[in-house]
Amino acid sequence: MRNLLFVLLACAAAGIAGAVLAHEGATGIVRERMDAMSAMKDAMTAVGRMLKGESPFDAVVVGEAAETIIEQGERIAARFPDNQESRQHPSEAREAIWAEFDRFEALAGDTVEAAIALSSAAADKDRTAIADAFATLGKTCSACHEDYRKPE
Ligand code: HEC
Repeated sequence: MRNLLFVLLACAAAGIAGAVLAHEGATGIVRERMDAMSAMKDAMTAVGRMLKGESPFDAVVVGEAAETIIEQGERIAARFPDNQESRQHPSEAREAIWAEFDRFEALAGDTVEAAIALSSAAADKDRTAIADAFATLGKTCSACHEDYRKPE
């Protein structure tokens, strides 16, 4: 029960409750990072559905989702260059990213670290550890969005 609650909270925190096609019209680096963020969202959704019992439990799928987030998470900082292209409409990136880039980069590191924990929980096929790691991971997404992504 406690885990299910965490999962629901993590889904809400990661902003995966309602899919929004905010990236319509985006090009270049903005488009690229929106697609990368969407890939992470899809990975979170796949695991979230499983933990809610909406799809069959499969540790392999969890492992793949974790790998996607590790891969994309490692590239977050590089996808926010401090230039004009990065500030293009319809980007939801906040100016604070570039004023506090070290913190922004550290928050991206937290996501990678949490995804690595999810990956090892998946390798152990440990459902409780997967649920806990998933909840922690979801919080790292929202920790960054709170300060650096404009509300829709
Ligand atoms: C270090 C900061 C940071 C982390 C960590 C982060 N995001 Fe984001 N995310 C952003 C920013 C900034 C934007 C807005 C980008 C833009 O519009 O240019 C964004 C946008 C998004 C979007 C909207 C994409 C679109 O098409 O408009 C989704 C979905 C998303 N993030 C999901 C996630 C998920 C899921 C995680 C965790 C696994 C995550 N993010 C981790 C900073 C972060």
